[in-house]
Amino acid sequence: MKNCALIITLLGIADVISEDLVKLPNLDAQCIKCLCYAATGCDLTRGCVEGYCGPFKISKIYWIDADEQVLPNDEKIRAGAYEDCALNYDCALKIVMNYFTKYGKDCNEDGVTNCEDYSMINFNGGWQCQPAINRTDAGKAWLERFRLCS
Ligand SMILES: *[C@@H]1O[C@H](CO)[C@@H](O)[C@H](O)[C@H]1NC(C)=O
Repeated sequence: MKNCALIITLLGIADVISEDLVKLPNLDAQCIKCLCYAATGCDLTRGCVEGYCGPFKISKIYWIDADEQVLPNDEKIRAGAYEDCALNYDCALKIVMNYFTKYGKDCNEDGVTNCEDYSMINFNGGWQCQPAINRTDAGKAWLERFRLCS
């Protein structure tokens, strides 16, 4: 059931992401799908848990750093604008893409910016993306979910 919802959702995202992908080479739909899966199993019904909202587990700080994306016709200053965007797959995707546009870089310094780096950015945050994800148990679990997705 969950997978079904995910597939249907992914079919709808191509338009949302195609514009941004031009600016972010090596970031493809498969990577985005697995970042979502590694975060929460891409659970669209999870809500906000301990300060992280939606299928990508987006924090308010991440949302602010991604220039406060909001649902169509919503306003950044409205209470709940962050939560409502992060809880909506397409809007959450806009947050993630904008975050990568701002913070995308070669975190592990292997000469190419690719999904491994975007994983590090989402797991560690854009400011300090360099530490290996596997340094913590939470990171190891995150990597295992990512591996299952790929
Ligand atoms: C942790 O990740 C780094 C970088 O990907 C890798 O070089 C290292 O072998 C990994 N360590 C373990 C214990 O898996």
